[in-house]
Amino acid sequence: MNRLEQPKTIIVIFGATGDLAKRKLFPSIYNLYKKGNLSEDFAVVGVARRELSSEEFRNDVEESITEFNKETEVLETFSNHFYYQACDVTNSSCYLEIKVLLEKLDEQYNTEGNRIFYLAMAPEFFGTIAEYLKKEGLTSTTGFSRLVIEKPFGHNLPSAQQLNDQIRQAFNENQIYRIDHYLGKEMVQNIEVIRFANAIFEPLWNNRYIANVQITSSEVLGVEDRGRYYETSGALRDMLQNHLMQMVALLAMEPPIKLTTDEIRSEKIKVLRALRPVSEDEVHGYFVRGQYGKGMVDGKEVIGYREENNVDDNSNTETFVAGKLLIDNFRWAGVPFYIRTGKRMSAKSTKIVVQFKDIPMNLYYSKGEMAQTPNLLVINIQPDEGITLHLNAKKSGQNIQTTPVKLDFCNNCVDGINTPEAYEKLLYDCMRGDATNFTHWDEVALSWSFVDPISNVWETQMATNFPNYHSGSMGPKEADQLLAEDSFIWWPVTDFDK
Ligand code: BG6
Repeated sequence: MNRLEQPKTIIVIFGATGDLAKRKLFPSIYNLYKKGNLSEDFAVVGVARRELSSEEFRNDVEESITEFNKETEVLETFSNHFYYQACDVTNSSCYLEIKVLLEKLDEQYNTEGNRIFYLAMAPEFFGTIAEYLKKEGLTSTTGFSRLVIEKPFGHNLPSAQQLNDQIRQAFNENQIYRIDHYLGKEMVQNIEVIRFANAIFEPLWNNRYIANVQITSSEVLGVEDRGRYYETSGALRDMLQNHLMQMVALLAMEPPIKLTTDEIRSEKIKVLRALRPVSEDEVHGYFVRGQYGKGMVDGKEVIGYREENNVDDNSNTETFVAGKLLIDNFRWAGVPFYIRTGKRMSAKSTKIVVQFKDIPMNLYYSKGEMAQTPNLLVINIQPDEGITLHLNAKKSGQNIQTTPVKLDFCNNCVDGINTPEAYEKLLYDCMRGDATNFTHWDEVALSWSFVDPISNVWETQMATNFPNYHSGSMGPKEADQLLAEDSFIWWPVTDFDK
């Protein structure tokens, strides 16, 4: 029988009264506990500015679990592991109080000095907190001490570099766990397995057989209550620099020699290094930006981005981005990787489509009609999880005509959108010291250096055509033209969006 590893640790959550803690972190820790991945030897210390007693904090934890989890057994036993410490993180004095609490809990819960500091708060505090944690001695323990950081990791390469330098004063690179929750998604983790555990794909996985690769991550929701953050970010920084580029790296990397963190990361980094840089003069030819106007979503009229709360009336922020990436290496030279993401689109879907080249001679091309459709391998990341292979087969009857058929594998045909599972896996990985599904600094730096020229151009040149797509559509027509110029189309993300 497989014995579960049950890491012993204290998790200190900075920003414990925030949305992320409530929606993702508490439910994830609860799931780990319930599944037996955590023993009784753990404690959670919530830190936030607000004055709360540990009792009140436990009530909040229980409430959020009742709201976001289906099951709620052993809730009280679980929440008894939670403690609270009010703290203005810019003031050194409360770090000492946290330190005293941690030492006490170490004894009480037998956590052997192991500590995870999870920064689930505004990024401007990341550097300060890391510095104080070291200065006030919270990181000097007999066990491990790890820092988990949410995005955004900087705003561009110089600010990311500055943040990294600051954090590195207190933590080594191998103690830093930069979260990209896409790397915790089941089907994103499955990309490697599909590629490297199947004899039928890997030999075809190159520019001789693949025509293009498309990654779409579309959302139906608008910016909701995050206008203030989103105005400084836009889709390029919010989704493309991290989630989409990580998926490109996983799809394009060479097989690692071993499945270790260092080997996998080093292959991903090579892909990012091989990306053809887009200079400021070329941005227009490779990238398209969009902003949603009003429109219909699920039968209801919704407002445009510029009318949302905390958004400028003349906002130049993109809520949609599509781009063409080229990877200049032996395997991928000449194969475009098209990526797009946007808010207020017609469907919530994250999908990868690998389009194979046409066979050299089409025997079934008749009467000027395309009788064959290209072979596609579709990796469905969400909401459905699975793989679909699109093939051509014979239409039944006397004539030799072809018809498209699909081979479907559905991993988990239930709604899995941004469920705590991604966080659950990532938290557990961090507790066990497995950093494979976290982003290394080199990946962050390379992604920013790719994205920076694009944001420089977009920030300095007003988009005179904004808003340029209706809410409830699949984005601006320029995104279709981007592919049409190469004689390709975006494959639909659902069966009904065309
Ligand atoms: C986050 C972005 O990283 O990812 C959000 O900040 C976005 O703007 C979210 O909505 C999408 O995640 P998912 O898992 O729902 O695709």
